[in-house]
Amino acid sequence: RVPVWLDCDPGHDDAFAILLAVYHEDLQLIGVSTVYGNAPLSKTTSNALSVLKAIGKENIPVHPGSWRPFSRDTKHARDIHGESGLDGTDLLPQPDRLPLKHCNAIKDMRDALLSCPPQTAWLVATGTLTNIALMFAVFPEVAKHLKGLSIMGGAIGGDFTNVYMGPEYTDSAGQKHARIGNMSPFAEFNIWCDPDSARSIFTNPDLTSKTTLITLDLTHQVCATTEIRDMLLFSRVKQEPPARLRRMFYELLMFFAKTYEAVFGLKDGPPLHDPLAVAVVLASINGDLRSLFNDAKHERWDVDVVTEGEQDGRTRVTSATEGVFIPRSVDVQKFWDLIEDCMAKADHE
Ligand code: BDR
Ligand code: CA
Repeated sequence: RVPVWLDCDPGHDDAFAILLAVYHEDLQLIGVSTVYGNAPLSKTTSNALSVLKAIGKENIPVHPGSWRPFSRDTKHARDIHGESGLDGTDLLPQPDRLPLKHCNAIKDMRDALLSCPPQTAWLVATGTLTNIALMFAVFPEVAKHLKGLSIMGGAIGGDFTNVYMGPEYTDSAGQKHARIGNMSPFAEFNIWCDPDSARSIFTNPDLTSKTTLITLDLTHQVCATTEIRDMLLFSRVKQEPPARLRRMFYELLMFFAKTYEAVFGLKDGPPLHDPLAVAVVLASINGDLRSLFNDAKHERWDVDVVTEGEQDGRTRVTSATEGVFIPRSVDVQKFWDLIEDCMAKADHE
């Protein structure tokens, strides 16, 4: 099994990333760290503990990391994820343990990753990039040691996308732009929260060729439509009444759908961004899943991040021979099958 460390900010879609990382038989979740983002750190940490309890994995430790970026203030995504970061259900259990006390998430992440044989472990980041940027800055040896880094973040636009995030935006110089971001017309939330950290990662020569970036252009291909939500609620065998765990995830998806419609006018259902970043690891190892990201060309990109001005937090790409892999399309059916398989396993715990 492939060792994976998950750095997250649960978050409705992060909850599904946890489910996939915990229950896929090809993965071994070696640690979970939390970061501020969708909600303040205390809440994302408590949410990670609650999700792990809900899916029957209370034994997995949770390491709280950064509560803010180093160089700027931040906002949380209350309008999308609610006050708690995981609003919408009463079925989420209260955690009855504390996160690891006196831990140092950065050092713990480093220790766990370095304790795996070289070129085996993956780091998956589904929140802002503050924790992992700090880890690579303080412990640069981890970059060479890793097998891969998978990040959900950014928005490219242009011919990468047919994402509709609202009407064209006119900038201060009167120039019109397609709206590609979910936090600003240009920027995706995880990158927007801490563009300086994001830039340090994308420009680290020890990381670029082992990094996969899952952008909004891709995540909007896996929207949790009414049919998908029903399939996950009743399972493939039409289980009646639905299991408690399935109702919990269903209610979370309904809340996420409601906020996506209210904020972005998206009626197809909310994009389930974060588990795609976990699926990247599976696509790298599992024969059946190799075609999950069915980009024949497997293009590589230099990624830079705008760190000031009107386009602050924007991810810009230029073609490169060695560089970050940014998949442009996903096998939607295979992706939902993966989620359903893991839900079925969790449901039987
Ligand atoms: C990202 O931002 C968060 O709100 C989600 O959890 C996801 O990681 C999408 O832009
Ligand atoms: Ca997230």
